[in-house]
Amino acid sequence: MPQFNENDLTAAVVNSFEETPDPRAKFLLQELVKSLHDYVRRTDLTFEEWEYAIEFLTRTGQTCTPIRQEFILLSDVLGVSMLVDAVNHREREGATQTTVLGPFYVGAHKEMSHGSDISPHNVTGEKLFVQSRVTDLKGRPLAGVPVDVWHADDDGLYDSQKPSYGTHGPTSRARFVSDNDGRFFFRTILPCSYPIPTDGPVGEMIVQTRRHPMRPAHVHFLVNAKGYEPLITHVFIDGDKYIDSDAVFGVKDELIAKVEKRSDPRMPDGREASAPWHLMSYEFRLKPGGGTAPKPMAARENEPA
Ligand SMILES: [Fe+2]
Repeated sequence: MPQFNENDLTAAVVNSFEETPDPRAKFLLQELVKSLHDYVRRTDLTFEEWEYAIEFLTRTGQTCTPIRQEFILLSDVLGVSMLVDAVNHREREGATQTTVLGPFYVGAHKEMSHGSDISPHNVTGEKLFVQSRVTDLKGRPLAGVPVDVWHADDDGLYDSQKPSYGTHGPTSRARFVSDNDGRFFFRTILPCSYPIPTDGPVGEMIVQTRRHPMRPAHVHFLVNAKGYEPLITHVFIDGDKYIDSDAVFGVKDELIAKVEKRSDPRMPDGREASAPWHLMSYEFRLKPGGGTAPKPMAARENEPA
C-alpha cells in the first residue's frame, strides 16, 4: 500500500485523473484538487470544520427546488458568479456590461406585446415605464431579438418566492421581441432593493457573518440575438441606498440608470397614466459572437442531463 505525505497525496490524486478523455474536464478536475488541497493545508482544517462544510453543502442542495436555486445564491454571495463573469468578459469593446444571472431566472417568460403591463396584479407599487433598444456595437438597431426581463416586486420578493405564484403564475417577468428599430417597451412597477433569501443556509451564513443581505433595486435583462454574445445583465436604479454594497457584488457603474419621476398625463407610447410614474431608458449594445444563453430554471428541468 502506498503511503502519502500531505504533498504526495495531492500529486497522487491529480495523477488519478490523468486518463480523463476530455482534456478540459481533466484540467478542471486536477486544478480543483490542487485548490481544495491547498485550502485544507493552509487552514489546517479540523474534522469538525470539514463535517460542517459537508453538512452546509448538503443543506444547500436540499434547499433547491424546481424554482429555487440555493447554489447559484451561494456562488453569488461568494463573488464566484461575478468572477466567472469577469474572466469571460474581459474585452467589452463598447458592448453593454454584464452581471450575474442570479437565482430567480425561473418559470416561463411568456412573450408579451410592447407596452404590456408585466405586473398587472400589483396594486401597491408605483408605475414604471421601461423603454429600451437593442443595437450592435455601431448603434445599428437589431430587430427580432428576444429579451427576457424580470424583477422583484415592491415588497422585495420575486414572484416565485410568493404563494401567489401558484394562482397568478409568473408575474413581473416576460419576454419582449425588439421591433424593426430594435426597440421594446413595457409597463411594470418600480422594483425596490431587496434581501437575498435569508431562510436557507446561504442566508444563515450572511446573517452569522454580519454581512447585510441587500441588493440594490434593479431590473434583470437577458438579451439573446443570433450572431451575438448573449447579454446577461441588470439595470440598477440610481440613488439606491445599497448601490455601493450589493450583497452579490454585481453593480457596475455603466449599468446604473437614472429613473425619472414623471407626472405627464401620458406615457411615451401615448397611453394615459392614471398617476405619477417613473421612466427608465436604457440601450443594450451587443457584441458579435456566439454562446448559449441559459434557460429559465423550470425549462431546464425538463431537459435530458
Ligand atoms: Fe434580482
